[in-house]
Amino acid sequence: MEYPIKTFACGEVSRRDIGKEVVLNGWVQRRRDLGGLIFVDLRDRSGIIQVVFNPEVEEDAFKLAENLRNEYVISVTGRVVERPRGEVNPNMPTGEIEVLGSALVILNEAKTPPIYIADQAGDDETVRLKYRYLDLRRPEMQRNLILRHRVTKTVRDFLDEKGFLEIETPMLQKSTPEGARDFLVPSRINPGRFYALPQSPQLFKQILMVSGFEKYFQIARCFRDEDLRADRQPEFTQIDIEMSFLNREILLNLMEEMMCRILKAILGKELTVPFPRYDYQEAMARFGSDKPDTRFGLELVEVSDLVAGSGFKVFADTVANNGKVVGINVPGCAGYTRSQLDELSPLAVKYGAKGMAYLAVTAEGIKSPIAKFFSQEELDGLLRRFNAKTGDLILLIADKPQTALTAMGQVRLEFGRRLQLIPEDTFEFLWVINFPLLEYDEEQKRYVAVHHPFTSPLPEDEDKLLTDPAGVRANSYDLVLNGVELGGGSIRIFRRDLQEKIFKLLGFSKEEAYAKFGFLLDAFEYGTPPHGGIAFGLDRLVMLLTGSGSIRDVIAFPKTTSGICLMTEAPTEVAPDQLKELSIKVAD
Ligand code: AMO
Ligand code: AMP
Repeated sequence: MEYPIKTFACGEVSRRDIGKEVVLNGWVQRRRDLGGLIFVDLRDRSGIIQVVFNPEVEEDAFKLAENLRNEYVISVTGRVVERPRGEVNPNMPTGEIEVLGSALVILNEAKTPPIYIADQAGDDETVRLKYRYLDLRRPEMQRNLILRHRVTKTVRDFLDEKGFLEIETPMLQKSTPEGARDFLVPSRINPGRFYALPQSPQLFKQILMVSGFEKYFQIARCFRDEDLRADRQPEFTQIDIEMSFLNREILLNLMEEMMCRILKAILGKELTVPFPRYDYQEAMARFGSDKPDTRFGLELVEVSDLVAGSGFKVFADTVANNGKVVGINVPGCAGYTRSQLDELSPLAVKYGAKGMAYLAVTAEGIKSPIAKFFSQEELDGLLRRFNAKTGDLILLIADKPQTALTAMGQVRLEFGRRLQLIPEDTFEFLWVINFPLLEYDEEQKRYVAVHHPFTSPLPEDEDKLLTDPAGVRANSYDLVLNGVELGGGSIRIFRRDLQEKIFKLLGFSKEEAYAKFGFLLDAFEYGTPPHGGIAFGLDRLVMLLTGSGSIRDVIAFPKTTSGICLMTEAPTEVAPDQLKELSIKVAD
């Protein structure tokens, strides 16, 4: 089909072009017939412009325009004119001008779309995901994906400038333990054998360091068969980085520079460096989280010492059993009604605590079902510790240290949202460093790596490995933005003796370690440079930069929280022949 091909993008026509003849190609956003004129909002990815068909200007085009419906694809030829006074639309970037249509070609018709193609999503997400091709026409989604492209472009340019090489690693690789569950891919030509899709390029990027590439990166697709949430997808994208001959400081500084470059290029924002660094212990103690949102206060306060000897058995016993009692002071909530107060405890229970007590500081004194168990001196001590004034509501949780801190951390976030204490439009980056290297897994009765088994301990903690494994800190770091874990990494172990020690602590025999990671251990025997790296969740970064509520809004074709692609209906059953070819039987 021959048709006039666009000379301009809809959103790029401006006052400068008044008087010019232009050709526009795009979709009909809507058509209005007014007083013998037909107005068409024409849309392409650059924006929307108004086209007017006037029977006195061009009879044929006008007649054809009467047939236009939403989402028809058309080619319009016309002259750019200034809009008549009073018709200017200040809400539209092209609101001062319009195009007087002189020729129209209908390139394609469209059925009535099942979803409303407007900037803000007006439809249920299920419908949006089923008709994703239409949902992606919405300007908001187009902006999100364009911004995502610009982020990856900025990252590529920045890393290239710093001497990093983009190298691809295999999608079909060996299944290795630790971390999330693998997605498996059966091998037809090796019956009974499986590849795994990469959870991350971790082992390969370390091998690339052994091979002497020194600075590697990849915009890498990763796959994890885990339970999904708003910021988790079964396949997602990492900005994956590894570097040789570095120390933690060099890497953190470089990554801060990269984040500055991104924020500047994408949002025009300047960030202050260095980003604050929180020791893991400090983040937990003050915010009850290893990804603290520091955009607001309500910091956690520990009061174990003040209540250890109190008559409230729950608190006294918890402290006696090495637990903690922690709390927050919520300003202005002492006037909560009975039913609001009754709803507090379940809030903490939802996050794993056994309960949550409150002290409401009112003008008539302290209101609390547990106040009677404390002496006046103890109560005064608590108020002082929380710096409490009339009107404040003190919330307290007693539990095992980790449970008390994380539950209180969640309650803190809940009140931050409820009281609207979280400023929009600020970007608070911070590092959390010195995570524990190992944690004891009660179920498996063994230590497991908190990050992964190749993370090195802090040099000064190395000699505690055998005497106090749980107390050893890792040479690791997480980058947090507005309370979201954006990325994480570590300085790696590169000495064989240390690696063997760690495997032993993780309960792998030499043979087991060999069966699982043999290729890496072999590689390490041939001259391994000191190295380390990091990976960022690209989807999460773009989600935060666009202010989206879910990473699904910044991924072209995401899956639902039950792992389903509503557009293609994957995963589906497959033909018996396909299974047979793969030597697979599905159990009933
Ligand atoms: P980690 O497992 O911490 O580290 O992952 C790095 C970052 O990837 C993002 N991320 C996810 N995003 C969306 N959906 C998911 N299911 C998902 N899982 C993780 C997060 C996270 O911070 N190889 C190491 C990195 C290294 O040591 O260099 C790794 O993968 O933003
Ligand atoms: P009970 O003695 O179970 O009736 O609890 C009295 C109050 O203490 C209630 O408000 C409970 O929510 C609270 N409470 C119970 N267990 C805990 C706990 N582990 N930490 C904080 N408060 C608790």
